[in-house]
Amino acid sequence: MLARWVVAAILTGLCALAPAHAKDSNIMADKHWSLAIHGGAGVITRDRLDEKQRGGIEAALGQALDAGSTVLAAGGSAVDAVQAVVEVLEDDPHFNAGRGAVFTYEGSNELDAAIMDGSNRAAGAVAGVTHIRHPVALARAVMADSPHVFLSGAGAEEFAREKGFEMTDPAWFATESRRKALEEFKARKVSWFDIDLKYGTVGAVARDAQGHVAAATSTGGLTGKRWGRIGDSPVIGAGTYADDRTCAVSATGAGEFFVRAGVAHTICDRVRFLHETVQEAADATIKEVGELGGDGGVIVAGPDGTTAFSFNTPGMYRGRADSSGMHEIAIFGDD
Ligand code: GLY
Repeated sequence: MLARWVVAAILTGLCALAPAHAKDSNIMADKHWSLAIHGGAGVITRDRLDEKQRGGIEAALGQALDAGSTVLAAGGSAVDAVQAVVEVLEDDPHFNAGRGAVFTYEGSNELDAAIMDGSNRAAGAVAGVTHIRHPVALARAVMADSPHVFLSGAGAEEFAREKGFEMTDPAWFATESRRKALEEFKARKVSWFDIDLKYGTVGAVARDAQGHVAAATSTGGLTGKRWGRIGDSPVIGAGTYADDRTCAVSATGAGEFFVRAGVAHTICDRVRFLHETVQEAADATIKEVGELGGDGGVIVAGPDGTTAFSFNTPGMYRGRADSSGMHEIAIFGDD
């Protein structure tokens, strides 16, 4: 009798364990993460990029990808990961964000950035800041620590001071090649979009092990910009958007067209209402931007961990990594 009870108890125990174990396995299987990054799209062709430039850009993209991957592999959040990526790229002078940002017509570097958390659709953005080393970190503070979404100029910097941000000497952002681009812009009176054939905005999208997505974007905007011009990057729904129900998007390109097409939000809506894959939604939306006359590209991450790139320019500085060990960096359209 006792023996039968012991056997029954063991069987009951095993039955009770089995579903729990199976459930844990499913959770473990779902603990994957993925990350996609960009450093700008544009007329990036092999003949325009020498070996040294290419090596420097690939190294910077690799460092940024590693910074985000480290966060995600340790179980960190998608928001922390995209911020970590963008901060690395903001410090690297190859890109048009933070150090190495393009010059305004008046000869300053005015920086824009945004970040969005897909788990609760919290968002923060700043525009026209001139003393903040990592504008994406200030955007994060706006999201986390203010009742607002979008701060600009002197007010954004006053908020930064109150939150203990260090004021960076504007000389940190200025590089010789960007100054030359401004001189060329003024001398040739070229179109707003011609001078920055490589747009150089930076961004990241991620899906973390908890299944949440996030996006961040940072830029100096356009060479020779005037009148407080703001592009798509810090505009939530245009250059940056994240929603766990659909996807996370960061854009790069001719900002005015991306604002008019509401690119990032349109991609998410296509996924949500038309049930397109993130790749289909990105391709359709970039096609729409092209039809308006704009060019550039997007990176997208879905809550299932799928990532997508789409661009209508010859190249886009880009990379992606995931928990299966994928680690790719690419520049040209045919890479
Ligand atoms: N896409 C960056 C800008 O137009 O400002």
